[in-house]
Amino acid sequence: MTYVKFPENFIWGVATAAAQVEGAAFEDGRGPSIWDMFSRIPGKIKNGDIPDVTCDEYHRYEEDVRLMKELGVKSYRFSFSWSRILPDGTGKVNQAGLDYYRRLLACLKENGIMANATMYHWDLPYALQIQGGFGNRKIVEWFKNYARILFDNFGEDVDIWVTVNEPIATFIGYADGIMAPGLADEKYARQCIHNLLVCHGEVVKMFRERNYKHSKIGIVVDIWHHYAERPGNPDDEKMAFTNNEFRGYGMFLNPLFLGCYTEELMEYMKAHDMVPHMEAGDLETICRKMDFYGLNFYNGLFDNADKVIQTEEGEHAGGNVQARPVYYEEALYHVLHMLIDKYHLDIPVYITENGYACSEETAEDGRINDQYRIQYLKNVLGWLHKAMEDGIQVKGYWLWSLIDNFEWSAGFSLKYGLCHTDFETLKRTPKESYYWYQNVIRNNGF
Ligand code: NOJ
Repeated sequence: MTYVKFPENFIWGVATAAAQVEGAAFEDGRGPSIWDMFSRIPGKIKNGDIPDVTCDEYHRYEEDVRLMKELGVKSYRFSFSWSRILPDGTGKVNQAGLDYYRRLLACLKENGIMANATMYHWDLPYALQIQGGFGNRKIVEWFKNYARILFDNFGEDVDIWVTVNEPIATFIGYADGIMAPGLADEKYARQCIHNLLVCHGEVVKMFRERNYKHSKIGIVVDIWHHYAERPGNPDDEKMAFTNNEFRGYGMFLNPLFLGCYTEELMEYMKAHDMVPHMEAGDLETICRKMDFYGLNFYNGLFDNADKVIQTEEGEHAGGNVQARPVYYEEALYHVLHMLIDKYHLDIPVYITENGYACSEETAEDGRINDQYRIQYLKNVLGWLHKAMEDGIQVKGYWLWSLIDNFEWSAGFSLKYGLCHTDFETLKRTPKESYYWYQNVIRNNGF
């Protein structure tokens, strides 16, 4: 058996996001987000679940930090809830919101856990959505104002700043109607993601002006690489290309790293009358140099043009997850190489998310046996290690997720946690994978 050993200072972590774990949705002055509203539209979330309480981390963060401490992680990736800090998205600051994050950060520090914090993980204040949300160019000023408040208050208390998590969710939310805010207008969606990328670039600029010595900044873009199921079949190849370039990571990585939208994407947008309005200097802003690239990796997907199905189940699969009959962990290896070869990445990579959803867990002697998750994680880490042996600079890995939580349109039905969450009692129970990951961290490998 081969032994997979990671470098000395490799960062092991776990990840969550505000809307998925905090709860306390209407407490202490927090304003509604687009997910609070979207989840109330009948049929949008599986089983009609709403994120009002979720894991109640707002009140139970000390318990969660204790779980992290026992697990041995060096870093916690969480997100700030914009509408907890600015209930109306802009204007009056909610002190209670800032106080919560101050308490959380202090607790992490006391326990020697580095903070990896995302500014925007999909939960736009609803007050901004009714003014057009990301489609309104004013979003750049709104976002900058929010970022300034975060930097002023938490600056170097946050070790790793993420501007935006998975911009694809914003695209889907405006183009396909199956995530918040629930609009179905691709032209508008393309404007939204352009504006979102400008927000990102402006925040990187603001960060640089502050000359922080120790903190780092980057963005998180998930890559679900699509392959032609029948290599060489023109229809499958075309479908995979479209999914990668027009509806997937290509939309973001080209402007972020190469400072342009590809010719193919521009042609596609022109043909459909959906080229976003861009201002002079936008592309330079978007491709400003970051300190790291955050990669969320879950799977590779195989496209077969003869088998396109759109099911209700698909809508409720959660995130941008699609029906996933096959797990293809090797895709991570290809993706990491692609980042270097195609996007000329010259900054370190953090795997900011990776995890496995099991809808059911088998309880044995009160322990929750999630062997499938462990097997999947082993495979992923094996491929990650191989890419690192090739010389690709990957500096950390955050497992999604510490606890079962609100999985967006899949509600509470999809469980990604290392700990089971009982959504009635809110009790957290470590699963087998928790103890397995504890050993991985302890041994810096497996
Ligand atoms: C993507 C997202 O960033 C996160 O919020 C989500 O829960 C996981 N991946 C799993 O789908």
